[in-house]
Amino acid sequence: MAEDIKKGLLGIVVDETEVSKVMPEINSLTYRGYAAQDLCAKCKFEEVAYLILNGELPSEKQLKDFEKVERKERNLSKTLLESIKNFPKKSHPMDVARTAVSIMGLEDKETKDNSPEANLRKVMRIFAKTPVALAAFYRIRKGKKIIKPKSNLSFSENFFYMCFGRVPEKEIVKAFDVSLILYAEHSFNVSTFTARTITSSLSDIHGAITGAIASLKGPLHGGANEEVMHMMNKIKKPENALNWINNALDQKAVVMGFGHRVYKSGDSRVPTMREYFSKVAKVKKDKKFEKIYDIVEKVMIERKNIHPNVDYPTGPTYHLMGFDTDFFTPIFVISRITGWSAHILEQHAANKLIRPLASYKGNSYRKVIPINQR
Ligand code: SDX
Repeated sequence: MAEDIKKGLLGIVVDETEVSKVMPEINSLTYRGYAAQDLCAKCKFEEVAYLILNGELPSEKQLKDFEKVERKERNLSKTLLESIKNFPKKSHPMDVARTAVSIMGLEDKETKDNSPEANLRKVMRIFAKTPVALAAFYRIRKGKKIIKPKSNLSFSENFFYMCFGRVPEKEIVKAFDVSLILYAEHSFNVSTFTARTITSSLSDIHGAITGAIASLKGPLHGGANEEVMHMMNKIKKPENALNWINNALDQKAVVMGFGHRVYKSGDSRVPTMREYFSKVAKVKKDKKFEKIYDIVEKVMIERKNIHPNVDYPTGPTYHLMGFDTDFFTPIFVISRITGWSAHILEQHAANKLIRPLASYKGNSYRKVIPINQR
């Protein structure tokens, strides 16, 4: 009897979750019941991080306490800092993120403790330190002095400060904050499911997040925002865009930043991110990428009925903010640590070892012939 194989687990429901859901009735991604675009309008990223991890929006006091912990944990150990200084300068920042979290796991005193309390404490350390580790590498590979985190700056302000030595205009900080809110969580995407799979054997949170970072690096997943920028740099000017995208489709290319396994008529995060992309382009007085964006989007929808996903607007937005292209997916990491962690906690709370079956297509039984007769 031919097994009903669902390659890529297409359309397969494997578990329950309370963290997020794309609600078709409002065509919105929702975190713990709140629409992501509503959270973008009314909250800062730290409030949403608290919500995803704890299940409720924080009171002012709870937010203050949360921020205090996050800011206290921003310091890196001497070992981690020295290791980053010795990483090959050509390392991809996603590999730096993955390795930094692994080193944090080597050092963390609570690695063996998978209790919710210990896991939440470890989450705060990973959440606070990963941006600092990435910013340190950002400076080192440019031959610049490392800039220490500042505890009087928000999560977003501090990342700009550690990378560039200054906090940009508030519109730029807000756009960055919005991108982190939109990137924070998206149910059983491949990196989150990777984290849950690793957790299901009762392995530790550092290992689960290390695996998730490795998965997010792939161009079919988080790595797409970097590939979007490579595409736009190849197109160079708006007047080249129409030919470029039509040629790409004629050659059956996969166009990065478009399509999605779940959203089939448009990623609900795109309108909000597109709006902030525009705001940043206005502040930077550079409309070129917006023109390329619109031409490519129009052809993708007209010719293939394939819509942009969240990686499409974030790519050029991060470029306009001044980040190196290979730092785009690491920014996705510092946000998605919250979603991954919420799922790791949830997997522990109702765990079942994840172990699917395979349909065997190999050789039928045969005897081993000793080597001197082969
Ligand atoms: C993220 O899951 C999540 O939630 C992920 C994410 C999150 O927040 O965690 O939302 C973040 O990863 C967004 C996706 C970023 N990836 C990309 O932009 C890479 C380009 N996109 C494609 O690789 C693709 O759309 C996927 C992988 C995202 C989804 O593909 P599916 O669901 O496996 O569908 P498919 O690849 O089988 O495509 C179906 C058809 C195919 O055509 P046919 O072979 O049937 O003729 O649509 C075509 C594909 O060729 N298609 C594309 C396309 N996406 C789908 N053709 C050209 N360009 C594309 N981008």
